[in-house]
Amino acid sequence: MGGLNIGVLASGRGSNFQAIIDAVEGGYIKATVSVLITDKPDAFAIQRAKKHHIECIIMIPKQFSSKDVYFEKIADELKSRGVGLVVLAGFMRIVGKPLIDAFRNRIINIHPALLPAFPGLHGQQQAHEYGVKISGCTVHFVDEGMDTGPIIIQAAVPVRDNDTEESLAARILTFEHKIYPEAVRLFSEGRIRVAGRKVEIEGAFAADEGLINPPLSK
Ligand code: GRF
Repeated sequence: MGGLNIGVLASGRGSNFQAIIDAVEGGYIKATVSVLITDKPDAFAIQRAKKHHIECIIMIPKQFSSKDVYFEKIADELKSRGVGLVVLAGFMRIVGKPLIDAFRNRIINIHPALLPAFPGLHGQQQAHEYGVKISGCTVHFVDEGMDTGPIIIQAAVPVRDNDTEESLAARILTFEHKIYPEAVRLFSEGRIRVAGRKVEIEGAFAADEGLINPPLSK
């Protein structure tokens, strides 16, 4: 606990949110998850926040006069809590410019495909339908585009002949739960530098230790 204040935005089940909570509670990330903001009053992520005594704010877009106002208010809530990193964990909206401007290079997202392949919704389904042999997941900074920001970490995940969309998504998810906390840890340690489209990671990197790529057997 202590250190960086993290704000999480989530719309659904929040398993990546949970992976980050676990990494913080286990001491792997020296930071505090200060607040969860959700656009869905029934998101399971809310139960996770409650269980771990994390403040939760429900902000429903249609209760705000415009998209810009909505994201301005989200930025205000995050700023007032001293948040230094905004983690999108299954937040099912395109982030509005006021929030991006307020937290430039301090908003990260996880996408369930190897960007720039298969951006947008249902990355796992797109990869499965296309017939790629390797897919994966990507942690990236959020910019104005759709999954276009500088890439921080990727994990390659094999696609098997007998995979369904669901089995592929489940395999990818296990790697999401590894690389997302890893990216948050690197950020919290001040080891991530953005240089144009490129992200440089200072010091030893987990990819060298074999964390990022799964074994190809089984
Ligand atoms: C994950 O597949 C993530 O890659 C995508 O949305 C999903 C969120 O899952 N951005 P969860 O809510 O973290 O379980």
